[in-house]
Amino acid sequence: MSILVTGGAGFIGANFILNWLKAGGDKVINLDKLTYAGNKMNLAHLPSESCELVVGDIGDDKLVRSLLMDHKPDCVVNFAAESHVDRSILGPADFINTNIVGTFNLLESVRWHLGQLEPAVAGRFRFLHVSTDEVYGSLGPDDHSFTEETAYAPNSPYSASKAASDHLVRAYFHTYHLPVLTTNCSNNYGPYQFPEKLIPLMILNALSGRELPVYGDGRQVRDWLHVEDHVRAIRLVLEKGEPGRVYNIGGRAEKPNMEVVTLICSLLDEMVFDPKIGPRLNLVKHVPDRPGHDRRYSIDPTRISKELGFEPKYDFASGLRQTVRWYLDNAEWVKNVQSGEYRRWIGRQYGAGTEENHE
Ligand code: NAD
Ligand code: TYD
Repeated sequence: MSILVTGGAGFIGANFILNWLKAGGDKVINLDKLTYAGNKMNLAHLPSESCELVVGDIGDDKLVRSLLMDHKPDCVVNFAAESHVDRSILGPADFINTNIVGTFNLLESVRWHLGQLEPAVAGRFRFLHVSTDEVYGSLGPDDHSFTEETAYAPNSPYSASKAASDHLVRAYFHTYHLPVLTTNCSNNYGPYQFPEKLIPLMILNALSGRELPVYGDGRQVRDWLHVEDHVRAIRLVLEKGEPGRVYNIGGRAEKPNMEVVTLICSLLDEMVFDPKIGPRLNLVKHVPDRPGHDRRYSIDPTRISKELGFEPKYDFASGLRQTVRWYLDNAEWVKNVQSGEYRRWIGRQYGAGTEENHE
């Protein structure tokens, strides 16, 4: 028995694999292209009998079909994606290739594979597609949170590419009866997140006394979900979810960005005060806003709560404290991910000067 995970060397995929194996799950085949966001170190300590890394592209149909044939997994969990909005604004092509064409190839390969199996075995198979709340677009302060019925209105190349992949997944259920499940979650945070995203970027900049670049007025709202809660929810959906159904997963923790940054600064001042840096909130710099910046995301988690009994265990304060602690305790991991590619990104996104500050 095994499962095929794609993108398992990234932030959420790695947390999922660790959690899955800890809970006694079957062997994992991890198909990952190891882009800048994939990190072999995240899973390097696992024995190959528990987790086998296959370096490759979800868009490679021969490779995906041979993995399905050789391992006959019970399910595919698709995390592989280009996942950063700012990168999608500067260069959308990779987002189209991986998020849309790659997902299409996975669906086609699974459809072909299920055609070779006994109907009873094929009936037990699941294809779980991990998506985002960003497909629903932007909310005003008083709008109702996103439900599974909210109309899609993606605003960035990233969210448009995820929306397209969700539509394909839906179509494969209705047209070919592929046993799919889709989850749309809110912003994740926690251990192993690549420091291009808000929370780890702010933790690491604040730790070393660099500027904290807040886009625009910093009053945009995100609904924060601890990654360990998210991967637990995914296991529940795999186990009990109804094929063809969509499940929104949120953390019941809506926060404006400035509140998140302020909390990070106070946690670091408390844990590792540095007189040379002083109070870290002084490092905040309001920089020009992201083009097309969505104002507010918010998940209504009623369906997954009522139907599958899921509730997040972390509140934001305890989850953020644990996350800050993790980045402090894992200096080697941090040093390794702040490689040449990371420095190039920081230089490109935040302007000349910042790159040198990372030397
Ligand atoms: P990530 O960027 O940290 O990791 C993505 C992983 O996919 C990396 O290991 C990368 O090497 C791999 N990958 C990229 N292109 C590939 C390809 N063509 N073939 C095989 N592997 C490839 O992303 P994440 O934050 O772990 O997100 C995982 C999923 O969750 C994504 O689908 C993302 O859209 C979704 N999501 C993330 C968040 C969040 O807050 N991080 C929120 C909502 C939804
Ligand atoms: P991000 O982590 O990129 O996730 P997403 O855009 O998918 O929600 O950003 C979270 C919020 O933080 C978003 O409103 C943009 C903002 N942000 C900044 O203000 N400064 C930054 O340097 C980054 C990376 C994000």
